[in-house]
Amino acid sequence: MAKRRDRVSEAVIRRLPKYYRYITELKNNGVQRVSSNELGQKMGLTASQIRQDFNCFGGFGQQGYGYNVPELHGELKKIIGLDRQYNMVVIGAGNLGQALANYSGFEKEGFYIKALFDINPRLVGISIRGIDVLDIDSLKSYVGKNHIDIGVICTPKEQAQEIAELLVDCGIKNIWNFAPVDVVLPDDVVVENVHLSDSLYILCYRTGEES
Ligand code: NAI
Repeated sequence: MAKRRDRVSEAVIRRLPKYYRYITELKNNGVQRVSSNELGQKMGLTASQIRQDFNCFGGFGQQGYGYNVPELHGELKKIIGLDRQYNMVVIGAGNLGQALANYSGFEKEGFYIKALFDINPRLVGISIRGIDVLDIDSLKSYVGKNHIDIGVICTPKEQAQEIAELLVDCGIKNIWNFAPVDVVLPDDVVVENVHLSDSLYILCYRTGEES
């Protein structure tokens, strides 16, 4: 099953993590087989939506059988790219940078934070769960010597653009940006923004809907 990223819509890509989460749970519960109807009911999607989504990747169900859960799990893992290891550096070793470094769960999925970088001399030299905080000035030479796939921005928003450009200048083409600002980068750089507040605003809006 090939990754057909060029032809896959953003909406389908956004649903992939949810598919993976549900299928992982089924697999962990020992379920061998699931129909698109059953999966749809669990996930709040229609069976035809699920079939259409999976068809973007060539489809992997069998009519009258449904999906083989362990196989589907393996395929989704490959499609998302979770079948390999990713090395990351975190820029900004404050509250959020340290929280990310303290979370061991990413490693179980193949995401390794190799180092944190900061500008604050009081943070440079410490280590978080064994991960060193290095001087931001050493980022370029560090990335030159260590294979890094993903740069994580955890600086204040005022520094985010400059840090994003620095990461790209170091050869890093994948950026996970937590700063509440849209960084502008060349088209060949992949940027994924995480804004917890957006999710909170939606919760807030829905709370308002109920009252
Ligand atoms: P913080 O102030 O605790 O940490 C920021 C760190 O960045 C500091 O240690 C600072 O020395 C460092 N820094 C500043 N300029 C730098 C530079 N040029 N190079 C390297 N390091 C530099 O802030 P906190 O609470 O950790 O938040 C970090 C960022 O994450 C902020 O932009 C904040 O708005 C954002 N944030 C985003 C969330 C989300 O849902 N995406 C949730 C919480 C925070």
